[in-house]
Amino acid sequence: MNNRVEEALNDQIKKEASSSQYYLAMASWAENNGLNGTAKFMYTHSDEERFHMLKLVKFVNERGGTAIIPSIDQPPVKFKDLKNVFEKLLEHEIGVTASINNLVDICLQEKDYTTHNFVQWYVSEQLEEEALARTILDKLKLIGSDNSGMYMFDRDLENAVIQPANQAQAGN
Ligand code: FEO
Repeated sequence: MNNRVEEALNDQIKKEASSSQYYLAMASWAENNGLNGTAKFMYTHSDEERFHMLKLVKFVNERGGTAIIPSIDQPPVKFKDLKNVFEKLLEHEIGVTASINNLVDICLQEKDYTTHNFVQWYVSEQLEEEALARTILDKLKLIGSDNSGMYMFDRDLENAVIQPANQAQAGN
């Protein structure tokens, strides 16, 4: 496997692992603050990010490279409020999208079209994740500081059917 591509894929493994830990921290904070819907949403999101990481690990190893399982910095324990949580989630996802775009760029520079094809799944996934985070933030802005609105928002997230990516993408 091309060295630059392998390095970029390993960087991405670390980013997906960090995302999983970050959303796990958000889930735990939400659970401790009576936001059960948000907690459920974030636990599922954390699992999805782990799946994104595993998919990369397997791809690197199957293509003759060596996947590096990274150490991860400790994510925050506390968050200001629910809006702050989703602002941080969106900010984080925008960073992940930039990293995926960089990976695509390296694949093209190195003429690694197999990896380029593989990475397209992540390009689509990032579009969906950013759109979802923006939709949720728009709702939270509408609710403002209305407590009953916040209660319903959290309840709606709890009832939302979130299909884990590893089921939605069976066969990948
Ligand atoms: Fe796998 Fe949300 O980036």
